[in-house]
Amino acid sequence: MPLRPPVQDEASIRALSIARYRQRAAAYDSTCGPTWPIRERCVAALQLQPGESVLDVGCGTGLSFELLRDGVGPGGRVVGFDQSPEMLGQARQRVARAGWANVEVVEEAAQGLALDERFDALFFHYTHDILQSPTAVAALLARAKPGARVAIAGVKAFPWYLAWLNPWVYAKNRAYNGSPGGLKAPWRHIAGRLDGFRREDTQWGMGYLASGRVRPDAPGMAA
Ligand SMILES: C[S@@+](CC[C@H](N)C(=O)[O-])C[C@H]1O[C@@H](n2cnc3c(N)ncnc32)[C@H](O)[C@@H]1O
Repeated sequence: MPLRPPVQDEASIRALSIARYRQRAAAYDSTCGPTWPIRERCVAALQLQPGESVLDVGCGTGLSFELLRDGVGPGGRVVGFDQSPEMLGQARQRVARAGWANVEVVEEAAQGLALDERFDALFFHYTHDILQSPTAVAALLARAKPGARVAIAGVKAFPWYLAWLNPWVYAKNRAYNGSPGGLKAPWRHIAGRLDGFRREDTQWGMGYLASGRVRPDAPGMAA
């Protein structure tokens, strides 16, 4: 049977992702243990300060909320958004159970994010589809204060000496994402819009951790 060609348009990519997370939401948290240290390092890279606001991009079930909230303190603000109703259902339950008054959950697609607020920090933890969309990246940077800190963690292709494993990385990524390609440089649409962009490999080269600051002249920034 021929392989289906990759889906190209934004609406179809989003629909595929929503369908995948409808299947995955119930068991999602139980699969995240091995990457917990990466999550902690990604939050630490944001260098959150008490009283700041942070946007949890594609927050899923809200697994990062507690760490982010610890960073901004009770006087700060955490806003998580996601397009998957099933993932967000769990995020809402998490917030209600914990009674966090300063954590807000919004059901929206990154491409059309219509929040009024601008954030001190943007957190991207395993948000491959979002980073593959130049429209989504532009919409998110428009929600950042000039100089806002950005931290990103995700999946990438192995370096050349382990390249024979990359079909497996692609297949694994396709199980979660509507646009699983672009694994050589998943950060390529955002890196040039950040000052001081730094990146390092994690997980023997099949993961990465990146950070930087939103350039004051990035599209959507106030002059
Ligand atoms: C691998 S999960 C990561 C969830 C969370 N960041 C974490 O680290 O546990 C990717 C999330 O991105 C969301 N997502 C994918 N494309 C999106 C889009 N275009 N807009 C908003 N959310 C999106 C999915 O619904 C899913 O919850």
